[in-house]
Amino acid sequence: MALPSLFARYRSELGEYLRSALPEGSPALLYRMMRYHLGWEDEQGRPLAGEAGKALRPTLCLWACQAVGGDWRTALPAAAALELVHNFSLVHDDIQDGDRERRHRPTAWSVWGEPQAINAGDSLLILGRLVTLRLGERGVAPARVIEACRVLDRACLTMIEGQCLDISFEDQREVSVEAYLDMIARKTGALLGASLHLGALVAVDDEPLVERFARCGQLLGLAFQIRDDILGAWGAADVTGKPVAADIRRRKKSLPVVYAMAAAEAAEREQLLRLYSQGAPSEEEVGIVLGLLDRHGAYDYCQQMAQERVEQALAELAPIDMDPTARRELEEVASFLLERDF
Ligand code: IPE
Ligand code: IPE
Ligand code: MG
Ligand code: MG
Repeated sequence: MALPSLFARYRSELGEYLRSALPEGSPALLYRMMRYHLGWEDEQGRPLAGEAGKALRPTLCLWACQAVGGDWRTALPAAAALELVHNFSLVHDDIQDGDRERRHRPTAWSVWGEPQAINAGDSLLILGRLVTLRLGERGVAPARVIEACRVLDRACLTMIEGQCLDISFEDQREVSVEAYLDMIARKTGALLGASLHLGALVAVDDEPLVERFARCGQLLGLAFQIRDDILGAWGAADVTGKPVAADIRRRKKSLPVVYAMAAAEAAEREQLLRLYSQGAPSEEEVGIVLGLLDRHGAYDYCQQMAQERVEQALAELAPIDMDPTARRELEEVASFLLERDF
């Protein structure tokens, strides 16, 4: 499925603004690693066209600004900040997950090693915080700029809490669906929530309305992560940019597995726990786990969970008065989050 048309509207100005947020600097290596991760350059520092990511968070931020009646360009510093902070989380996440590939390319740590990739990730985070302050240049009042910084920092802390839980689940024998949902609300829901929150915040002084946008984003984030878990089990490598069944190979307690562990009978649960308590599974063992997920209808369960959250997200904004085009665009993004082709 192609990206919804909304993404194209902001792409070029967002790309330009992002570049202004990440100027050349010294040592050259630090800035090269960041440009590489963002997809602006190859490993040798040769320029590439475009960005590596979808820019989902900044797009939703700019959309929210427009949807509440603002000029979307006002929100560009917040949008750039979200993309930089998101990319910080990916650079660190790839180290934490030991993933050698992202977006069909070698990850920063697999090119430059973990210590230097940590520096690149940290710098992306700080650049994200710094660019948020530039909201003032776009006419946002100082108190609102401070509030935007607070929203972004809080979301970032919540995201790291989620990462901590996610990693700790790897050593936990069993994880409940409830604990899983709390974890993804933090690791992915928080930043998606902040995306809509910030877009609305910079344009209107209406707390209940801004909160609705925040909750809508949070729910879209849950659906997005559940879908990511579906792709982590069943997605094709050309779609995920990662090896097939990457989450199963890494024995992640992703939703398909959490659900199957709860749904399986004692003997099967023991088998799953055994497979999940050893080192890297063989091809045959990956096949056994996938067979077990299929037998329990894990795919349909996860898809249903994602669907429900998207419906709740749309329901958050149903009562508000919104331009029909903006509403249709949100619906398109919502369907995209549920589809993302295999
Ligand atoms: C990946 O996010 C990490 C998750 C929270 C699932 P995206 O799929 O938005 O990453 P890019 O930036 O488009 O690659
Ligand atoms: C995504 O983590 C959330 C963050 C990076 C905070 P995952 O590990 O689930 O995402 P992918 O699949 O590597 O993008
Ligand atoms: Mg990961
Ligand atoms: Mg991870």
